[in-house]
Amino acid sequence: MAGKEHAIDFRGVTKSYMLGTTRVDALRGIDLIVERGDSVSIMGPSGSGKSTLLHIMGCLDVPSTGKYYLDGIDVTTLSSDALAKVRAKKIGFVFQFFYLIPSLNAVENVMLPMVFDSIAEDARWKKAVALLDKVGLKERMYHKPSELSGGERQRVAIARALSQDPTVLLADEPTGNLDSAVGAEIIKLFHKLHHEEGITLVTVTHDPQIAHYADRVLFIKDGLITKVTKGTEHEKMVAMLRKEITFEEATGVKAGEEKKLLKVLEKKKKR
Ligand SMILES: Nc1ncnc2c1ncn2[C@@H]1O[C@H](COP(=O)(O)OP(=O)(O)O)[C@@H](O)[C@H]1O
Ligand SMILES: [Mg+2]
Repeated sequence: MAGKEHAIDFRGVTKSYMLGTTRVDALRGIDLIVERGDSVSIMGPSGSGKSTLLHIMGCLDVPSTGKYYLDGIDVTTLSSDALAKVRAKKIGFVFQFFYLIPSLNAVENVMLPMVFDSIAEDARWKKAVALLDKVGLKERMYHKPSELSGGERQRVAIARALSQDPTVLLADEPTGNLDSAVGAEIIKLFHKLHHEEGITLVTVTHDPQIAHYADRVLFIKDGLITKVTKGTEHEKMVAMLRKEITFEEATGVKAGEEKKLLKVLEKKKKR
């Protein structure tokens, strides 16, 4: 049924790369559901698989094994052409290094992903201006990237990522190339977009500030989700059953004191 599916549904997703004759297991079995309107932050040490996870989520790459449903579509069965179309329609990307076109001004950069849309040129223009307004950059719409600060460039990149009304906005270290005060402004902007516009957001980050704002924080290590903080109770239970987190981490009750948990549950039921 359209509209009822999870935005993102990973089932046992693995990804392995061959480096010469050595196999690198970048992801070793990721189960993850992101609902529309969620804000999820993924943290973990360098090389743990964060970018690989985000690339698969963004249909830039496909799993080695496992299933990935994006808006209910099984993207693991799509041809690369079909995958590119799904990506263009459903995914907005924000990267550490902005990737704006230097010869285009801000509004043109935002309009760029809309070139293949069937809407009229002036409607595209209006939409791009409205998006720049939303990210607080309307006055700079005729500036080229070289005439903008890092934080302003990232705002343009965020506006561009929203131009297709994506199902989900994916950000890979979006504050990694900004000083912390500017990074904080960008985080506030993500936060605002999430709360006011209901944008679904998955952010990979080293930045504890972003994690602080997210509804859920997942930790990834050696290609596995090892810890879930601020997660749903269901996610914590699954992580516990997979022995990725302890009973105490999942429930807040010490091992050996499981009976206490039953009392807690009873109290909840009575309320
Ligand atoms: N295209 C690739 N070819 C070979 N190995 C890769 C490739 N991309 C990533 N890896 C390896 O997969 C692991 C996870 O990488 P990555 O997802 O980039 O981690 P992170 O973003 O957490 O730093 C690392 O060991 C990395 O070297
Ligand atoms: Mg990375």
